[in-house]
Amino acid sequence: MPSIPILTIDGPSGSGKGTISRAVAERLGWRYLDSGALYRAVGLAAAWEGVDLSDAEAVALCARRTEIRFETQGAGEPHVIVNGKDATRQLRTETAGAAASAIAAQPPVRAALVELQHGFARLPGLVADGRDMGTVIFPDAPYKVFLTASAAERAQRRYKQLKDKGVSVNLDSLLHEIAARDERDAGRAVAPLKPAQDAVIVDSTGTAITEVIERVLAVLPENLRSPRQA
Ligand code: DC
Repeated sequence: MPSIPILTIDGPSGSGKGTISRAVAERLGWRYLDSGALYRAVGLAAAWEGVDLSDAEAVALCARRTEIRFETQGAGEPHVIVNGKDATRQLRTETAGAAASAIAAQPPVRAALVELQHGFARLPGLVADGRDMGTVIFPDAPYKVFLTASAAERAQRRYKQLKDKGVSVNLDSLLHEIAARDERDAGRAVAPLKPAQDAVIVDSTGTAITEVIERVLAVLPENLRSPRQA
């Protein structure tokens, strides 16, 4: 069986991972795994069911029974359907992000999502976006990027993103939340946010999206980089 090419893109919240990973997957004609959306969806499903978010075993059980689907509806971000409900908008809020970050620190919850994530690896290839894609979920992936940007710039980007979506936010509190989430994601004992040893670090501070996409694509060998023939 031919091996499946996998490109992992890890990094902190607001580093542009989502936009960049989706664009790269589209350019390559590969599948896209938004692992953050899985943690957000589980956090939301647990809240819907009234599960105590600090009860790791209960949240892990919830993770195993939650049905999560990604639906492409024209251009733009795919919609995320959680237990049959379109939760796309709700999942992008900072409340959902904070809940995701809290449950993501629990080892049984992470374990419950491993198989689901491995299932995304299919031909012709996979772009996997998250915090531990290159370190834990796909450690043997041949192509790894760690995408980062300054905290101030990440807060600005998130601010603009949320404002454009009509979500009202305050820049200072956003910067504070981003810093707190970074600390929690990087400081946790299980699968902390850190670059894989063999990852190429791409700092996107002050860099246009198109340029960042090119820098990420440059990690791949030429024969994989060329756009698919129509
Ligand atoms: O990428 P995101 O902001 O949607 O992720 C939401 C939270 O989920 C993030 O704070 C940490 C957690 N997460 C994780 O622990 N591991 C991943 N692979 C992806 C996300």
